[in-house]
Amino acid sequence: MENHPILSQLPSALLPWYREHRRELPWRADREPYHIWLSEIMLQQTRVEAVKGYYTRFLAALPTVEALAGCDDDALHKLWEGLGYYSRVRNLKKAALVIMERHGGVFPKEHAEVLALPGIGDYTAGAICSIAYDLPTPAVDGNVLRVFSRLTDDPSPIDLPATKKSVTEALAAVYPREAGDFTQALMELGATVCGPNRKPACESCPCQGFCLGCRNGTAETLPVKSPKKEKRQEDRTVFIISCDGRYALEKRPDKGLLAGLWQFPNVSGHLDTAQALAVAENMGVQPKELFREVSRKHIFTHIQWNMKGIYLEAANMAGRFQWFTEAQINTQAALPTAFRLFWEER
Ligand code: ADE
Repeated sequence: MENHPILSQLPSALLPWYREHRRELPWRADREPYHIWLSEIMLQQTRVEAVKGYYTRFLAALPTVEALAGCDDDALHKLWEGLGYYSRVRNLKKAALVIMERHGGVFPKEHAEVLALPGIGDYTAGAICSIAYDLPTPAVDGNVLRVFSRLTDDPSPIDLPATKKSVTEALAAVYPREAGDFTQALMELGATVCGPNRKPACESCPCQGFCLGCRNGTAETLPVKSPKKEKRQEDRTVFIISCDGRYALEKRPDKGLLAGLWQFPNVSGHLDTAQALAVAENMGVQPKELFREVSRKHIFTHIQWNMKGIYLEAANMAGRFQWFTEAQINTQAALPTAFRLFWEER
């Protein structure tokens, strides 16, 4: 592996900077491994501002690993509603069950045991073990990869596993005793001064004196990423069917996209009005009135849904659906964002 002599200067530059500039965030109030774990899972692919409220509500509802292990799936999905990537919360519960059964309810302390839990990969294990236990285990996410590629002026594409591996090894070699603060300092630099999709604020960076990207004038062009694959486009028609103040919902299958969550009935393709009314009849509802049609899109990791929403009042409540009141939809049923878009606009 390439040697990066400048990295030895990183801890002494970053630690004092972090202690002065760190943002006060709810998960930085303590070092309880359950709290760190939850925050790191929530923060994957999700902005800090969006996570704050979810984190606080989740812990108020489920204050211990034991409470998480015993929570039923509908209530769990509801606590996650709108955060996306719902397999994250299903894995949280699976891991909580493992902690109850295999570790007597106590969060494991060894890196290998943490890494063996469902839903915990290299990044999350590194973050938990360094932040909660001060172990020298780097947590290399997109922020850290960007900081590293700029510091070392390295154009290796950051999405390649080999890049992540070499960055992890290079950082592990310089980890200080204050491992938790160092992990968070790297993340913090990557989230603020050396942020994504903008010019780095090198003038206020504690690493300015030794950063090769800054010295060579390449920081702004880094990191390098491999070309993105096109997302698959899918057209869908979504039915928002009301009947006497109740709305038709159904549960999605247990496997695949948005598994086990609730949805408005929907079919593949964009139907015109006559086709939509015929399909609704086929579902067993008698459409009385068609209020309106709207077009919305929702982007997942690999797919984009181009949706046409049809708002209907029906004369009867077909038995194949569950008919929820407004209050039930708001408090009980986890309706993922792709469908909630239509609910909020009703
Ligand atoms: N992004 C990922 N983990 C984070 C953390 N612990 N604090 C702030 N941003 C983060």
